[in-house]
Amino acid sequence: SSDEKKAMTEIHELLAKLYHHCLLHTKQGRPALEYLEKRGFTRESIERYQIGYAPDSWETASQFLQKRGMDLHIAEKVGLIGKRQSDGKPYDRFRNRVMFPIWDRTGAVVAFGGRVLDGKDEPKYLNSPESKIFQKGRTLYGLNLARAEMRQKQHAVIFEGYVDTIAAFRAGVTNGVASLGTSLTEDHAAILKRNVQSVTICYDSDRAGVEAAFRASEILTKQGCTVKISQMPDGMDPDDYISKFGNDSFLKDIIGASLTVMAFKIQYYRRGKNLRDEGERMIYIEEIIQEIARLPKAVERDHYLRQIASEFNLSLDALKQQQTQTTKQLQ
Ligand code: UTP
Ligand code: MN
Ligand code: MN
Ligand code: MN
Ligand code: MN
Repeated sequence: SSDEKKAMTEIHELLAKLYHHCLLHTKQGRPALEYLEKRGFTRESIERYQIGYAPDSWETASQFLQKRGMDLHIAEKVGLIGKRQSDGKPYDRFRNRVMFPIWDRTGAVVAFGGRVLDGKDEPKYLNSPESKIFQKGRTLYGLNLARAEMRQKQHAVIFEGYVDTIAAFRAGVTNGVASLGTSLTEDHAAILKRNVQSVTICYDSDRAGVEAAFRASEILTKQGCTVKISQMPDGMDPDDYISKFGNDSFLKDIIGASLTVMAFKIQYYRRGKNLRDEGERMIYIEEIIQEIARLPKAVERDHYLRQIASEFNLSLDALKQQQTQTTKQLQ
């Protein structure tokens, strides 16, 4: 019912305020605040993203909610409170974690992501389960904060995680959102398309991140977005890069140097190959032709085939033939 949804949101709003207060104004929150400061979080970014801390306690949230007259059964439904099996006693599910509120498009808190401080506990991020008010595949982290800038620029940058979005904001990317580790869905892409013309994908520079970026680029292209992909040095994510090389370099050398999807693939397949070696060169050309064959526009296919032909001194006819064969195999 809509009453239940309202109560669910109210519980999240109350807890977000509690956690934010615990982080900034309590002794228990000190280690978490120091952790964030060490990672470069500024006060401004802690405020903008309403970051908090869930104390190392089994009952802080449940007692707080009870005092506010909230129905713990509803808090249980949205995964904030658990019930002990032995006696049904409520306990807090988020303990000793840095808390990132997740908002819906209207700016209401509908979920949390909670990060461990020490990196030993599993999972690294504990996230709220899906609920009546939170669907992962339809939620872009930070959209409520970034929407105005996105629309104005007609451009969005999409990251994997909370920390990347926030680090990039510090660096000046005010139109950034995150897909929160999940693969980008058609709903995500449709939401982006409603707000912007073009999107830059800035996922982690590891195998999983690059593969997710390729999939996301297809989904976004299908929705009609113009897509670019940023690349960082191997193994780094945006937050790592900003910590190491600074804000200006991130804006100029990473975001500013993002490539069209095909240009990205052309250099990505090159990595780790010795193109002077004939065998490796042939594998590379085959991989690129596969990609070219999947381009929807004939003009684009022609452009990249010519580029390959001229770079490797091959006949355009031969490349075209091979591309036609590849196209047939794909069908
Ligand atoms: P990453 O493992 O790349 O984490 O996952 P991160 O964003 O770089 O975080 P830091 O720098 O270690 O703090 C990317 C995103 O995937 C989701 C989170 O949304 C995270 O931001 N994720 C990751 C989870 O939900 N659970 C996990 O255990 C790990
Ligand atoms: Mn505050
Ligand atoms: Mn990752
Ligand atoms: Mn990462
Ligand atoms: Mn990271």
